Amino acid sequence: LYNRLFYAKYEFNIIVLNKGFLKTKQENEINSIFLPLILGRILFLLSLRGLKMKAMLNIALFGPPGAGKGTQAKRIVEKYNLVHISTGDMIRKEIADGTELGKMAADIINRGELLSDEFVVRLIENSIATHKGANGFLFDGFPRTVAQAEILDNMLGKEGTPLKGLICIDVPFTELKRRMLERAKIEGRADDNEEVIENRFKEYNSKTVHVANYYKNKGLHIDIEGDRTMDEVFASIVEVLEKIKD
Ligand code: AP5
Ligand code: MG
Repeated sequence: LYNRLFYAKYEFNIIVLNKGFLKTKQENEINSIFLPLILGRILFLLSLRGLKMKAMLNIALFGPPGAGKGTQAKRIVEKYNLVHISTGDMIRKEIADGTELGKMAADIINRGELLSDEFVVRLIENSIATHKGANGFLFDGFPRTVAQAEILDNMLGKEGTPLKGLICIDVPFTELKRRMLERAKIEGRADDNEEVIENRFKEYNSKTVHVANYYKNKGLHIDIEGDRTMDEVFASIVEVLEKIKD
């Protein structure tokens, strides 16, 4: 009885197959050419997507003003051949070039306040779109609000290359201030003065710190002790990246 049932089921499947795909000899021949081609293409696209996901190392450097994000970013992008996306640098370039975006941003950045999420996302979108085949992105000074973090996750999610970690550089307040006042003497950045530095810290504490919790909940938050020499901080970051890069 069991054998009969088994063969009945087997025959039924063959009939269904014949109805679906193999009605005539001509159709049979067409199917034998096109089915492997279609299956091959699907496998090829899936493998490309798999390779892309494996290859991209998307990281965000996070921390208060003066923590050393830009300093470490330069070294990381060189070692891992990543695209450096610094929203602060991009905005300063727009201002220096005198563009419309630059004119809109100048007063806000010079007061030490955050620009709107819409403004920053416009800057970022272009960079991601124009570097699709990159090894990965190193975000520096972005995301700075939970809304920006959600937008970034969404953008990277669509590409199938999610963020692999938020590296949080931790430095005491007095050292941060010392570094920025020191930098003011060398680089003359318009927002490196006592009053504006205070505002930047206020913005960080009210709007930006929440981004760390957002990524803690996703298990992507990594703490790095930043009050050490640049080489020591870099060595710790490399140690982390070596673990998460594949
Ligand atoms: P942004 O340019 O991002 O500035 P920031 O976050 O205030 O940080 P900094 O660039 O001042 O410091 P850093 O952490 O890069 O430290 P660095 O390596 O330079 O943003 C500027 C403004 O743009 C914002 O205020 C806002 O208006 C706007 N903006 C940007 N992004 C935005 C966003 N996503 N949304 C909304 N608005 C946005 O180091 C600092 C100094 O310390 C240097 O002189 C360096 O040589 C020195 N140093 C570094 N590491 C060490 C070390 N280990 N030991 C001793 N000295 C060190
Ligand atoms: Mg910076």
